Amino acid sequence: MGTAVLEFADVTVRRGEAVLLDKITWQVDDGDRWVVLGPNGAGKTTMMQIASAQMHPTSGVAGILGEVLGAVDVFELRPRIGITSAAVAERIPRSELVRDVVVSASYGVLGRWREEYDDLDYERATSLLIELGIHHLAERTFGTLSEGERKRVQIARALMVDPELLLLDEPAAGLDLGGREDLVSTLSTLAYMPQSPATVLISHHVEEIPPGFTHVLMLRQGGVVAAGPIEETLTATNLTATFGMPLQLNHDDGRWAARRRTRSAT
Ligand SMILES: Nc1ncnc2c1ncn2[C@@H]1O[C@H](COP(=O)(O)OP(=O)(O)O)[C@@H](O)[C@H]1O
Ligand SMILES: [Mg+2]
Repeated sequence: MGTAVLEFADVTVRRGEAVLLDKITWQVDDGDRWVVLGPNGAGKTTMMQIASAQMHPTSGVAGILGEVLGAVDVFELRPRIGITSAAVAERIPRSELVRDVVVSASYGVLGRWREEYDDLDYERATSLLIELGIHHLAERTFGTLSEGERKRVQIARALMVDPELLLLDEPAAGLDLGGREDLVSTLSTLAYMPQSPATVLISHHVEEIPPGFTHVLMLRQGGVVAAGPIEETLTATNLTATFGMPLQLNHDDGRWAARRRTRSAT
């Protein structure tokens, strides 16, 4: 039993007539590794924007790292959270050296506008680059990297601040098969490291779930279909309800695979 890192109570987000999130009640404890699964438009990124203190709920209460969103200075909260997302990636200058993309996170800035970083920061950046298997890319510019390499740089950058919560929004999007498999291995290694922060990985493919992830929350049209320990919650029945089509699910060697249920299958 850990302490709560995220504590959502009836978190609801409305935009005009649209209900993006509908009374989400959810708790992430220290040490948990959650996957948030759901089809496009289910509200996954909206949930991540709340969890990273970028957006406030329309109603309900979002507890983040022991603080209540709305009653805390978000500029003190945000540095305690590591994020990777397409939106964050777009803001990384293509001409920036990989080492600087990572080390500059310690100043909460994108782009290397400060020339001086502490030796300790560089040491930490180096060990993260090694941990993520990209140390050989340290002197390359971000723009010259493959999509898979960029994803690893972003994860190293997110970890640079030693966050108490790590949020990964579709990190495998756009990767080829080899790139995806490499990333899944890396995320699995991180998941099994006890010193890794509580992690939430957003995805719409069960094939992207790294071994070592402990919990799943399944989202459809802004509502929770199921949430809990992955082994008992990630079932064909819940997956079928989440994606709105009959699906069968395989679990083999710690990896998951899903496909449409064929008529012959039971
Ligand atoms: N400002 C907005 N006004 C109305 N609808 C929005 C707004 N922002 C997002 N949406 C809608 O909310 C839904 C959830 O979006 P999102 O959280 O990005 O889903 P996901 O990440 O699961 O694909 C989508 O249908 C999207 O079109
Ligand atoms: Mg999204």
